[in-house]
Amino acid sequence: MNKNKLVFSGVQPTGNLHLGNYLGALKNFVALQKEMECIYCVVDLHAITVFQKPEELKSNLLETVAGFIAAGLNPDKSIIFNQSSVSGHAELAWILNCVSRIGWLNRMTQFKDKAGSDKEKASVGLYIYPNLMAADILLYKATHVPVGADQKQHLELSRDIAQKFNNDFKCKDFFPLPEPLIPKNVSRIMSLRDGTKKMSKSEESDYSRINLKDSADDISKKIKKAKSDSDQIPDNLKALEKKPEALNLITIYSEISKISLEKVLNEMSGKEYSFLKNKLAEHLISEITPVGKEVKKLLADKSHLLQVLKKGKEKASIIAEENLKNIREKVGLI
Ligand code: TYM
Repeated sequence: MNKNKLVFSGVQPTGNLHLGNYLGALKNFVALQKEMECIYCVVDLHAITVFQKPEELKSNLLETVAGFIAAGLNPDKSIIFNQSSVSGHAELAWILNCVSRIGWLNRMTQFKDKAGSDKEKASVGLYIYPNLMAADILLYKATHVPVGADQKQHLELSRDIAQKFNNDFKCKDFFPLPEPLIPKNVSRIMSLRDGTKKMSKSEESDYSRINLKDSADDISKKIKKAKSDSDQIPDNLKALEKKPEALNLITIYSEISKISLEKVLNEMSGKEYSFLKNKLAEHLISEITPVGKEVKKLLADKSHLLQVLKKGKEKASIIAEENLKNIREKVGLI
């Protein structure tokens, strides 16, 4: 276990965890807990930057914790807790709101996407969301942050904020500059209906994503209906440049079957996409449905999940309080 490295990451409790979360983040979370100290947070304060029905938020929170454990996170190894239970996240976010610059936030593409055409109506929280994300990471002085590619820009902002804090308060190296850990091939799993959009919880059609809780039947149907290509499978990646849906299916297949992209193309070139789809559905069913079943089983015992959160909160609070004490001192707060 490397004591100089600390991993932090977060997932919003805004509904079904899907294959994008699983391949882009959760699998990495699980692999990292073997080598480093890890803190994994269900970021409920981030979720409420867009209105959430209170009852749904609570059940989504427990479902996300269940998803963490079902995917392989071990609450005895990793710290698992929800963000709002450690008030230091909100406190540090305020301090960092005063360090971060409006010009930096104006460049955030995710705000532009999420706020849509009427920015005046977006919550202030949604706008300063990346500062809260920096607070999550810096509160623990995390050094490594496993995320999908969509979070890269937010991570760069977190590094800028850490650097500015260190400069402003003349405390070189006080905050480490957190490094993103982004998976190579599956950093951006795309929608099954539109290969130019990322797979997401918020896309209306459930056919656009594979949810961890999907049944074998759901998975087969979704893969069968997934957009692909009327040509046969080519023998090289270049030929897939303008075929994002086909590339997405092949990438998912390569990742889940652990066969390199080149080898997949070698073996499948000249075949119809239905051939790939059958194999992909089989692999997905054998990897994803056990996770979904475990999620359902875990949800049957909510007191266990609440206990995991309580224990996680206690451990996280110790680190957060110690760091906050030093942060307050640096800023000059008594
Ligand atoms: P969230 O909840 O949208 O997503 C959770 C994780 O899943 C990854 N992900 C994907 N990866 C590949 N392909 C996709 N289609 C896909 N969709 C989602 C995300 O990149 C993320 O790693 N702002 C963050 C949560 C957060 C956070 C943090 C992360 C809050 N504070 C501090 C790291 C550190 C978010 O909304 O993730």
